[in-house]
Amino acid sequence: MYEICTETEADEYEVETLYDLCFAPGRTALSSYRLRDGVPRVADLCLVLRDPGGIVVAAIRFWPARIEPAAVLLLGPIAVHPTAQGEGLGGLLMRDSLTRARAMGWDRVLLVGDAPYYSRFGFQRLDGVVMPPPTNPDRVLGLELRPGAWVGIAGPVTREETPAAASGLADGAGASHIRSDCSEIEHPREAAHGVQSANGSAADHRSRRA
Ligand SMILES: CC(C)(COP(=O)(O)OP(=O)(O)OC[C@H]1O[C@@H](n2cnc3c(N)ncnc32)[C@H](O)[C@@H]1OP(=O)(O)O)[C@@H](O)C(=O)NCCC(=O)NCCS
Repeated sequence: MYEICTETEADEYEVETLYDLCFAPGRTALSSYRLRDGVPRVADLCLVLRDPGGIVVAAIRFWPARIEPAAVLLLGPIAVHPTAQGEGLGGLLMRDSLTRARAMGWDRVLLVGDAPYYSRFGFQRLDGVVMPPPTNPDRVLGLELRPGAWVGIAGPVTREETPAAASGLADGAGASHIRSDCSEIEHPREAAHGVQSANGSAADHRSRRA
């Protein structure tokens, strides 16, 4: 079985190594990282996926950010190990984390990425939302977790200076968990041949504390 866990400090090295492998050198020089520097991640949404051998094959992280006066959830980075790409694992992490974000009370999600990939999860180009330069505006995408959540939201995206006060963060703020919250899941290929939850969320699978 595969296992999805919330990221802990013990996972940090493996997750960073995966990101280094999957992204071009100098990824942390990207403008979106300026919104993350020194800001605690949304710990309940940062997920690590391990294969049956315990190897980290995919990871996703989220940060709080603002488009004043609104709180926004900044998705990314997400990465799947090159040997496991195209197997549905990225989609699994996307759907699982977005289900959790909705349950936590977040209203809107923002990311910088390829529209042809993220549109399958409902992301659309955001007009008038400005990421720190240089960012291609065509890659600034948003998803509403509540109907109308992006209506009237425009302007520069800024750092969340008071993460604990951000919407939906009451229990979720912090760089990482001390104990991980894990769920065993089937690989999407195997799940496609068996019983799968309606939304593909691992939140429906057997959960345990590690
Ligand atoms: C992008 C990424 C997270 C997708 O995860 P994945 O597990 O490989 O993707 P899935 O198996 O869920 O989905 C595969 C589908 O997405 C498509 N896809 C993957 N990356 C894409 C991209 N950048 N643009 C458009 N489509 C893409 C594949 O062509 C495939 O399409 P199909 O379903 O029509 O066959 C993963 O490929 C990855 O880590 N890439 C390198 C790091 C990266 O680019 N991260 C995202 C930054 S924006």
